Parts: sequence; structure tokens; C-alpha cells
Amino acid sequence: MTRTVYVNGEYLPETEAKVSIFDRGFLMADGVYEVTSVLDGKLIDFDGHAKRLERSLRELDMPHPDVLPDLLDVHRELVRLNGIEEGMIYLQITRGAPDDRDFVFPDPETTKPTVVLFTQNKPGLANSPAAKKGIKIISIEDQRWARRDIKTVQLLFPSMGKMMAKAAGKDDAWMVEDGAVTEGTSNNAYIIKDNTIITRHLGNEILHGITRAAVLRFAKEAQMKVEERSFTIAEAQEADEAFITSASTFVMPVVEIDDVTIGTGTPGPIAARLREIYLDESRKVAV
Ligand code: PDD
Repeated sequence: MTRTVYVNGEYLPETEAKVSIFDRGFLMADGVYEVTSVLDGKLIDFDGHAKRLERSLRELDMPHPDVLPDLLDVHRELVRLNGIEEGMIYLQITRGAPDDRDFVFPDPETTKPTVVLFTQNKPGLANSPAAKKGIKIISIEDQRWARRDIKTVQLLFPSMGKMMAKAAGKDDAWMVEDGAVTEGTSNNAYIIKDNTIITRHLGNEILHGITRAAVLRFAKEAQMKVEERSFTIAEAQEADEAFITSASTFVMPVVEIDDVTIGTGTPGPIAARLREIYLDESRKVAV
């Protein structure tokens, strides 16, 4: 089935959707994005994603597209047109397409931002077999730029990290800077020791995950102890449990780090419980 996608105000078949070769997203990775999951045909954590998107635009001095206040309607319309029950909506905004390539930002009066959204249909997303088995990861040096708190489309290094994991026969990679874990290639990283959930504090070094914020809130509401601080790979290998969070994986247990088994080598009870709580509570307030 041909997807219907959204490009600059129009709903079009994916085969007819076009963006200029001068688009700054294409030439300079001058763009920001969001991935919002869909469960039961509804959007999970839409408000959180919308707020982070506005922050990303602000931090990069990128003009707000006119459609910004109507993005919820656009997301819902794409869900409806494509009949999505479980999956994701990808949204990207770039600084637009000026007449030529130039390092200087174009005049926002004449160059309007480019806005693209499309759906990714993923039946069974919430019931993923990987969540029952857990994933295996490697550690790699974090070689990204210094403003990882902005959700830009500069994803080359994370993409290379995934390939390094794949080449090693594993599922993903955690990135390490100055001896401490920053985050996963496309997710936030956590360990659990003596019933305390430990995850890196917020800062410019990591993306402020929307799933992270929700999971930590639910954990605190369930009287679980949370510590927001750095940890090393050695500490993670000694942990009772480990897991990642993101809009596309929710809470996903990690059972091996650099060939060292974590806990019993199967998803631990706290990660499994957090996944359940996250899915239940998020479904209740999905829009
Ligand atoms: N990635 N850290 C990084 C580097 C990410 O790319 C992501 C999300 C996260 C988790 O953020 P959230 O909980 O808001 O999804 C953390 C998305 C899913 C992606 O690039 O596909």
C-alpha cells in the first residue's frame, strides 16, 4: 500500500512527495525531528514531543513553521489516512530550501521551513519479542557533536554505531565519553543496582528523552528509587539489570554489555515492570 505522507501543507502519496535538492536538511543536516509512537491508533506523549520540538527549533534559531500549532491534527490525520494501529510518526522540520548552497542561514522572510511527516506501520510494536529476550549491546566512544540535547537529523555517527553493533553480532551500542556512558545510539541508557534506577543526568551530552521523563515519573510514583548520575561500563556490567528507553522501544531490557552477561541474562523484574507501567499509563492518556 502506498503511504500518504505530509509535505508542506499537502497530503500526498509517498511517490509524489518531493523536497528541493537545495533543502538545508539535505545539504547541511540543518533540521530537527521527532518520533512519536502510536498505540491503539493514538499518539503517545504527544505534548512532550511537541514541547521538545519547539525547544529544538528555538535552540537552532530556526523559524517556526505556520503549521506548528496544528501538528496534532496533522499527526492524527496521517494515522487515519494510513490506518495505523501500532507504529510511529516521523516528523522533520528543516530550515528550508534557499536558492543556492550557503553556510549563512537564509532570510526567514523568503525561505520558509520544510515540514515533512510520514507514518511507519509496526504491528506488534508493544508486544515486541525483543522485550521478552532482552538486547545485547557493545560500548563505543561517543563521537557526536556537543549539543546532543537538540534533536537534529545529524545521525551519521549513531548510524555508524548501530553498524558497529551489527558487525559484532549485537543489537545496539552505548556511547561513552570521558569514561561515562552518555546514551544509546537512539535511546537513553539505564542500570539498576540494589533496586535503584540509575541514569545519566540531563545536560547537553544527551537527548532529553520524552520516554525517559515519563518512565522516571512513573518509577517515582511507584516509590522506586531513582538516581540521575553518570555511570561507567564497568558499573553497568556489575548491575542487577539494565535497560534502554525510547519512543520506538518503550522500555527495552539489556541483557549483555561488551560480552558480559547482566544479572541472570534474561530481562530483570524491574525493567519488565517499568515496561508494563509505561505502556499501561501511556495508553490511558494517549491522544
Ligand atoms: N530516538 N537518545 C537519542 C540519541 C535518541 O535518538 C532518542 C530517540 C532517545 C530517546 O528519546 P525519546 O524517548 O524521546 O524517544 C534518546 C528516536 C526514537 C529515533 O531517532 O528514532
